[in-house]
Amino acid sequence: MRKSSLSPFLIVTIVGARPQFIKAAAVSRAIQASNEKKRKIQEILVHTGQHYDYLMDRIFFEELDLPKPHYHLGVGSGSHGKQTGVMLERIEDVLHKEKPGAVLVYGDTNSTLAGALAAAKLNIPVAHVEAGMRSYNRRMPEEINRLLTDHLSTFLFCPTDQAIQNLSKEGIKNGKGKIVKNVGDVMYDSILYYSKLAEEKSTILKDLGFFNPHSAIRIPQYYLATLHRAENTDDPKRLKSILKALHEIGREVPVVLPLHPRTKKVMKMHHLSPENDRVKLIEPVSYLNMLALERHARAILTDSGGVQKEAYWFKVPCLTLRDETEWVETVKSGWNVLVGAETGKILEGLKHIKNRKPFRSGIELFGDGKSGQKILQIILKTIGGC
Ligand code: UD1
Ligand code: UDP
Repeated sequence: MRKSSLSPFLIVTIVGARPQFIKAAAVSRAIQASNEKKRKIQEILVHTGQHYDYLMDRIFFEELDLPKPHYHLGVGSGSHGKQTGVMLERIEDVLHKEKPGAVLVYGDTNSTLAGALAAAKLNIPVAHVEAGMRSYNRRMPEEINRLLTDHLSTFLFCPTDQAIQNLSKEGIKNGKGKIVKNVGDVMYDSILYYSKLAEEKSTILKDLGFFNPHSAIRIPQYYLATLHRAENTDDPKRLKSILKALHEIGREVPVVLPLHPRTKKVMKMHHLSPENDRVKLIEPVSYLNMLALERHARAILTDSGGVQKEAYWFKVPCLTLRDETEWVETVKSGWNVLVGAETGKILEGLKHIKNRKPFRSGIELFGDGKSGQKILQIILKTIGGC
């Protein structure tokens, strides 16, 4: 597509998976705020349909006040190639029709890669939010998605200085047609914006019986766990070993595990379960409920990227059930410990972190909570000339 045929004040946002709804909410809010003041920018929201269960999808649109998707591509689940291919075809149709000045993509899912590839092939500038993250493990589908998306992007919105350095090692630097900026983390914007609301509105701790109404001490006692990475769910040995650890931990203090549908499916297929009713397997929870669960947990055990950071921001000790992480700052700070999937290592790690004192506050490794605004300003200045 020729540059002159693109509409500079039209942005197409591509989302599809749970964490992308939370990330996109920060930039959508900045767009709405900007429109109230002066410039009218139109955001066209495209939902690929990668996630589709109510609790993985619509609940976030309702709770986070996200605009209703203008296009729902209904792609659904499938193998990597098929899912990405169908998305690519359908996103291309939308871009031909809308001719936006930029396409915004988030994170590292198949929806991210499909959006970036469709736009780049049509010469539409790609803006990648959460650019520059690397695990240096190319067996992760997300690592492939991140690498390719970054190399296709014009705007690389990095959440940390480490991300800028990672890109620089691959020859992606600010200048010569690329805009590489540390704008902070949009998930930090979201947590700052929604955590007060979560405290006011969420009833999940009471619903799960963690606040004892007869006790004067209102300190809930539970661990929170999440699990969904392919490396943990696709390998029954790893999954079994993690579930065994949760079983052991649950003997002492209850564990809450909101189950990702991928994990639920694999557990059912292999007849796996922690066999301990103090490990509460619950449906995926809404964002406000998740923030409430995270904030009050004794510690968090997770393989999620977003949840590692949220643990850090809430100053809740975290064990990461992976062998490496992109969020190295959380580990360097001493707050997040990589324990992998071995039962013994998980139990040992928990002993080590559970009595840890909160770290020094005021560490702003992930920006100042205004990433959404910064992203919008940079895009407008570059493509809209204002
Ligand atoms: C995807 C992302 C991952 C991200 C995660 C966030 C890729 C390659 N992976 O992983 O980076 O961390 O989202 O949660 O893009 N399913 C349902 N209902 C749904 C969604 C999925 O039942 O609403 C089941 C299906 O059986 C599906 C499986 O979960 O095959 C996996 O879903 P998929 O979107 O392919 O990957 P995630 O594991 O969710
Ligand atoms: N989350 C949620 N409900 C849940 C589990 C997670 O709202 O049951 C939120 C969590 O607070 C974080 C984001 O979803 O903001 C993380 O998404 P996920 O773990 O699915 O993906 P990842 O971050 O690993 O890509």
